[in-house]
Formats: sequence, C-alpha cells, structure tokens
Amino acid sequence: MSITAASVPSSVEAFQVVANASPHSDEERADALADLRFGVQFTDHMARITWTDGEGWHDRRVEAYGPLQLDPAAAVLHYGQEVFEGLKAYRWEDGSVWAFRPQANAERLARSAWRLALPELPTEDFIGAIEALVREDAAWVPGGAETSLYLRPFMYAQEAFLGVRPAKHVEFLVIASPVGPYFASGLKPVSIWIEKDFHRSGPGGTGAAKCGGNYAASLMPQMAAYARGYEQVLYLDARHGTLLEELGGMNVFVVMADGTVVTPVINGNILEGITRSSIIQLLGESETKVVERDIPLIEVRAGLESGDIAEVFACGTAAVVTPIGKFGSEDFELTVGDGEPGPVTVAIREKLTDIQYGRAKDTYGWMRRLV
Ligand code: PLP
Ligand code: COI
Repeated sequence: MSITAASVPSSVEAFQVVANASPHSDEERADALADLRFGVQFTDHMARITWTDGEGWHDRRVEAYGPLQLDPAAAVLHYGQEVFEGLKAYRWEDGSVWAFRPQANAERLARSAWRLALPELPTEDFIGAIEALVREDAAWVPGGAETSLYLRPFMYAQEAFLGVRPAKHVEFLVIASPVGPYFASGLKPVSIWIEKDFHRSGPGGTGAAKCGGNYAASLMPQMAAYARGYEQVLYLDARHGTLLEELGGMNVFVVMADGTVVTPVINGNILEGITRSSIIQLLGESETKVVERDIPLIEVRAGLESGDIAEVFACGTAAVVTPIGKFGSEDFELTVGDGEPGPVTVAIREKLTDIQYGRAKDTYGWMRRLV
C-alpha cells in the first residue's frame, strides 16, 4: 500500500502568519463566491517560502495577497525559469475541507523543478504551505456543487542578473482562487483542433515538466484553434507527427466500443497527470481494461468513422473529466459518437468527484484533510 495523503508530514507549524490588514469584507467575499469563474478572483493571503543558495529554504510565512516586487533583471522575466502546480481544496457536506493527493503534486513539482534547474522543495513544505494558506483563507472555499478552491503553487527565479545560469534566489508561493467549472459550458462536450504544424514539446524538451514556457508555446496554436471555431488543441508527438500526446492543459483518454480504454503512454513529453493516474486506477478497479500505449491519429480517425471508438475525454485538475464531442484538422472533421457525453466518461467523472467531494469512501487514501 502506498503512503496515504493523510500520513504525509507537514511543516505547517513552521509558517509565520501575518494577517492581511485589509481583507475583503464578508459581503465582498460572498459576492465573489456567488459568481465563480475560473482563476479570476483571489483570496486574502498567499503562502511563501524563500530559497537562497547556501541557506536553502527559509522564511516560511503566510502574508497578504498582493503584487510581487521584481527587479527588471529578475531571471524569470528573461529566461522563464519557473514551474507550477495546480490542485484543489474541496468542501465536504459537513463543512470540512480536503485536498486530493497533494503529495503527488509535491512530487511532480520536484520533478519539474529538477528539469528547470530550480531547487527541490521538500514535500512537507509543499503540504505545509497549502495547509497554512487554506487554514487562513478557509472561508474562501466555496460549498456549491462543482466548486472548489483552486490552489496554484509556483516557484520562480527571483535573482536579478542577466547571465544564463540557475538563479541563486528563488521564491515559492501558493495562491488560491475560488472556482467553478473550467469550461463555462459545464459537461457539454468540447471541440478539439488537432494541431499538425506546432508542437507543445519535443523529445528531450520540457513537456513532462509543468513549466510556464510550455503554456506560452501553446497560446498561439490555441488562438488559431479558436479562430477556426474549436475550443482546445490536441498536440501530436514532435518526432513523428502521428501520435496523440495531450491537450494544452489536459490528458486524453479514448474509449473503444468494446469497452477497452486507451491513453497515450508517458513518454517524457507528456505531463503525467494526477487525474490521469487516478482514472487509470479507478477504471482498473472495475472490469475495464486500460492500456497505456502509443495512439496513432490514423487509428483515431478510422475508429471514429467506423464506430470502433465510442467516446473520447480529456482530464485534469481544472477540467476534471471533460467529454470531447468533435475533432477537426486541416483535412477532416469528425464527431465522437453522437456528440453527447458517453456513459464511461460520465461514470468515471462521477466516481472521481464522489471521492473528491467526500460522497464516496476514499479507499485509496487519496484525501487529506486541511481544515
Ligand atoms: N497535461 C497538461 C499539459 C496540464 O497542464 C495538466 C494540468 O495540470 C494535465 C495534463 C493534467 O494534470 P493533472 O491531472 O495533474 O491536473
Ligand atoms: C490544472 O489543471 O491544474 C492546470 O494547471 C491546467 C491549466 C490549463 C489550468
């Protein structure tokens, strides 16, 4: 049995809290929580830890949310030395607040940091920062269906210098945003443009790391997809240009008509999603056969045309489980099934969210109580 979320150590007691002297009023917060969109509203505080070469991680604190001071020569502004994470705090019906597999985010942040030559933050500090912040801003965790407090841990090169080398002064922060669904359309299937000219990452690149640069590279293709009437972009592998990889901010799963579920194998270019790995475990627990392998685009085209592919869905912390209803590219446009959310997609979304919101027993030890 792997270590449970509840048993991961935390440095929360080491955080010094300096409360925001002018927090939102109860009324302002209530207004914000009554109109939830994704990532536009932030809570009253942020957690922070400083790293300097020689001293390591120090000054664990929670302070007022507010603008950062950056020297114009700060390395992050020039060379993009930055990594981040995304996870959610869920309010259960009894009022308690829980995080989903936060140690998996801590471990992924450490892997991303290694790739970007940033210092590794110990898991107990990642958990401690989240706990310290959510304790302070617990009133900001919304309680409605499909809502949560989205937590955005990130780390960046603060040192002011223009030489190209890893920074000797790095800041780690966690900010929090009360959110509703990532797609305003709710469970309505999204349309996907299959991008053939541009790639998110290549062999040996930073695709497996959660770093800002990967998302910067996705913005132009994303805008081009919007202009063509599509909502999201699916990237193909850079080596062959023939294999499905992932969306700009989500992993992808294909449900075959015979019930088998396939998803692109982790190949060093794809972000190893925590939702992805949880879905693989949950599907494996039922009778479903799940296969991680290369998925050629031609197989998907043929499968959608013949009906051998029944459903396709995307998944991630922000997007949860989102059905894909349509694919398009320069030379084709194909509907997935009847274009409506399929039963496997709906069932896995429910199974996952039932655990996250405390409606089902957490048999895997994935949930960690924060408040
Ligand atoms: N792939 C990319 C590129 C992402 O940005 C995300 C979101 O974090 C995911 C996949 C899904 O990862 P997770 O399920 O851990 O949120
Ligand atoms: C997340 O799902 O947490 C992400 O970071 C993806 C981003 C597109 C919001």
